[in-house]
Amino acid sequence: MATELDEAVRVVEGLSLGAPAIGVVLGSGLGAFGAALDGRVAVPYRDIPGFPPPTVAGHGGELVFGRVRGVLVACLSGRVHLYEGHAPSKVVFGVRLLAALGCGIVLVTNAAGGIREGLRPGGLLLLRDHVNLTGTNALVGPNEPPFPRFPDMSAAYDIRCRDIAREVARDEALELDEGVYAGVLGPSYETPAEIRMLRTLGADAVGMSTVLEVIALRHRGVRVGAVSVITNMAAGLSSAPLDHAEVQATGVAARDRLERLLSGWIERLAPEVARG
Ligand code: HPA
Repeated sequence: MATELDEAVRVVEGLSLGAPAIGVVLGSGLGAFGAALDGRVAVPYRDIPGFPPPTVAGHGGELVFGRVRGVLVACLSGRVHLYEGHAPSKVVFGVRLLAALGCGIVLVTNAAGGIREGLRPGGLLLLRDHVNLTGTNALVGPNEPPFPRFPDMSAAYDIRCRDIAREVARDEALELDEGVYAGVLGPSYETPAEIRMLRTLGADAVGMSTVLEVIALRHRGVRVGAVSVITNMAAGLSSAPLDHAEVQATGVAARDRLERLLSGWIERLAPEVARG
């Protein structure tokens, strides 16, 4: 794995696109942010050795470099999910690449079903913590020194990143809830009984991504901020059946607010991770 990652880093650095200090992971239907970057250069995943191809409709599958309010970022536009059958190490290949390219902060976005009362489709939820229910872990297998075998996860979602997100939301008059994300394997949506279980476990939202990526990033000492776009009320909480097309459409409708949050977030975080 390390050699595959080294090779990917060599290829991307060989393109001389600059040294991003902030990475962004764009979830289902949220790829527009990457498409709007200034001076954007996109590298298709298929051109990066070791990168597994995403297969879900709505996922672009490219690493995008570009600027947000003058700050260079590297964006994973299109992610690889565990439910596609990829090994956990492949699911986190992209975020490990961001870390290896020098990103000291990665902002992760996703689409999620709202469990907590009061969360509405189209709303934004800043993640405070997660419950990993995927049944696996990004770090299963031999450890790669110098990274720790047993990384601490007690403050996985960086406190300062969260404070700054709330400041941006206040200044931009964006509603921003905060809560706990349950990461499940999927790809079937949950049953109403499973949603009642997740609520009992302390989850405010549920989705099929993010948790393995956050584990892999924390393993490498990268600071993480994460936000869910609530695309639907979780199973059993509304009378409508869950539908992937609807999940994507809600993601698109929230695009403008997510973009404003991300832009302000990146601008204010940049001085903390500035690179020469
Ligand atoms: N459940 C799981 N994953 C999801 C959901 C959901 O309700 N909505 C968007 N991703």
